[in-house]
Amino acid sequence: MTGASISRWTMSYFAAALFFLLGGEALFAAGFGFPVLPIEAPETLVVVHIFAIGWLGLLFCGALLQFVPVLVSKPLHAPDLALHALLLLIAGLLCLVCGFVHLAGYFDGGLVLLPVGGMFLAAGFGFVVYMVGGTLLSARPIGLPARFVATGLVALTATAILGVSFALDLSGVIEASFLDQLLVNGLSLHAFLGLIGWMSVSAFGVSYRMLAMFLLAPEIDRRTTSAAWLFLTVAVLAVIVAIPVAAYGLDATAGVHAAIAIAIIAACLFAYDVVNIYRQRKRRSLELNTQMSAVAVGALMLAIGLFLFLSLSGTLASQIGALVYLIAFGWLTVLGLGQLYKIVAFITWLEYYGPVLGRKPVPRIQDLINERRASSWFYLYAGCVAASVLALLLEMPLLFRLAALIQLIAVAALVIELARTRKLSYVAIAPAADGENLQHPPLFLPTPIKRK
Ligand code: HEM
Repeated sequence: MTGASISRWTMSYFAAALFFLLGGEALFAAGFGFPVLPIEAPETLVVVHIFAIGWLGLLFCGALLQFVPVLVSKPLHAPDLALHALLLLIAGLLCLVCGFVHLAGYFDGGLVLLPVGGMFLAAGFGFVVYMVGGTLLSARPIGLPARFVATGLVALTATAILGVSFALDLSGVIEASFLDQLLVNGLSLHAFLGLIGWMSVSAFGVSYRMLAMFLLAPEIDRRTTSAAWLFLTVAVLAVIVAIPVAAYGLDATAGVHAAIAIAIIAACLFAYDVVNIYRQRKRRSLELNTQMSAVAVGALMLAIGLFLFLSLSGTLASQIGALVYLIAFGWLTVLGLGQLYKIVAFITWLEYYGPVLGRKPVPRIQDLINERRASSWFYLYAGCVAASVLALLLEMPLLFRLAALIQLIAVAALVIELARTRKLSYVAIAPAADGENLQHPPLFLPTPIKRK
């Protein structure tokens, strides 16, 4: 990431995302929503969206704003919108969650918050699509990893449109039969587009570049990578085509099944490429973030195996919670937390030592972190994800809650590690250079711009 500039609000996106991750784990541990309550309960919708939008959504938006300019070597388009987007996404999520809490019967008069939250969220995601999409457009023709991000943006737009349609229908603000039909037939389309179409596809694209960079492996456009991108784009388009079918009242499951089959082939190609990147690496020892990426890709492969097993044994519908959990926490969260650990160190290093780079000796990025301490928390977290999946499959909600409690502790410990990195606690001689009036980076707000 040499020569990269810092997206000013990225640390704030990450801080908000971690706040929602901790909040969501606490709700799981308290037994709020699934698996203590049914999967379709409004309480489950609260937890699902705290994780989907609050944790993963904000994490991915923050990472894309920081990383896409690096991916295409162009500055971020309309960077001033980053704060507006963040505030809209947080406000929208809070309204949406209050709307779901109303549906659960905890208080009255909150139904209108569903569409209000949906609109705020659509606007927030719209700004992100505008910033990231504008950056990609300014760099045409874009490389292969960036094309994954472009496909992801299309899926994000479709996810948000479906979410707003559901919110409008549930609140009764607009009465239209096509919205009723979408709510009945479109839930799997919404979930596929969010978890696979947007998040997993973007994660594939960003991982290709990041892994090659961190492992010092050759950055080549493999034929398998092109095929993976093509398959994923076809899968996303198949689900988008299924939206009007669902709105017309027809069963759209065939479209989703076809898309899942195509996405599975693409995920296997991705895993094959990742194995090759690890094999061809010049950096022999694996840093913690690349160890976690390997664990995450392993979890993705396990999810595919679980999907096939559940489908063949006819238990997919009853065990869908375990599968979605494995994708969200084993694959996306482990990957996201691992990369976050590295990105926070990188951003902090660039913010603090950037002004004296090349003029004074500075520590290495690795000197800002303590991998020995963090690795036990990472592996504890990953172990608890495995225990949670087992608990869901064996229908043992108490074990699931216990695992969630330990996950909460592990994430809290990792947040402390990230805060230590921000505060340069692990650097032996923190001030980079005497006489240089360097600013200590704030914990999660942008460094104030100096007025001359
Ligand atoms: C504009 C943003 C979004 C809005 C307004 C929204 C809204 C909604 C609504 C109203 C429902 C309930 C539908 C029903 O009762 O049947 C729902 C379900 C769901 N949403 Fe979203 N959503 C948004 C974004 C996302 C994202 C980004 C993801 C995933 C990455 C996601 C994943 C899900 C899932 C998995 C369900 C089904 C949960 C269950 O059945 O328990 N949503 N969404």
